[in-house]
Amino acid sequence: MKSITKTPIVILNFKTYLESSGENALRLAQACENVAKETGINIAVAPQHMDLYRIAQEVDIPVFAQHLDPITPGGHTGSALLECALDAGVAGTLINHSEKRMILADIDEMVQRTAQNDLVSVVCTNNINTSTAVTSLGPDFVAVEPPELIGSGIPVSQAEPEVVEGTVAAVQKINPGVKVLCGAGISTGDDMKAALDLGSVGVLLASGIILAENPEKALLDLVSKI
Ligand code: G3P
Repeated sequence: MKSITKTPIVILNFKTYLESSGENALRLAQACENVAKETGINIAVAPQHMDLYRIAQEVDIPVFAQHLDPITPGGHTGSALLECALDAGVAGTLINHSEKRMILADIDEMVQRTAQNDLVSVVCTNNINTSTAVTSLGPDFVAVEPPELIGSGIPVSQAEPEVVEGTVAAVQKINPGVKVLCGAGISTGDDMKAALDLGSVGVLLASGIILAENPEKALLDLVSKI
């Protein structure tokens, strides 16, 4: 658990880009592993469910699910079961991503069930208020991402630094054990450095690396100023 949550941390959310699906997902995860080994920075990947098992088998860096459903084993066709993700080798899961929002009671259930199963929980939020609300649930990480900046190429750490700083301050007040990440529009070493300077312990990002001409090179640049 310790090495999985080592900070600073970079979590690359593969979303559903073709560039990070199937064979491409494996290649991208291997690029992340190369950079993690070369730099010593904790880099985790969050591939699609269909790619989780293979990637968890093939790479030696933390692998996260993008979402898990608040269900118990049984009749829930099409849902993502925590126990199955665990068996596939995941280290943790994103919860409540802006592209997969959940109601508060379900976020609470998933934070509790991840903790019971030694999985790392990363609860995504869209602003300071929701960060404040979910911190009381006690997740490992809160990742604040203003939705309007997601996929925009405009880094949150520069466009809306007050959201990151405000989240860090609010979380600190409620539960200093919860670590803050930020995301949206992050792609360069300067963006990452700005994120850390604002008090976050890492970034959750996607398009800036996945769509880069050379993702491994882009990752090396991302962590170059830490
Ligand atoms: O989960 C990461 C995310 O929503 C940010 O996406 O493409 O702006 O880095 P992106």
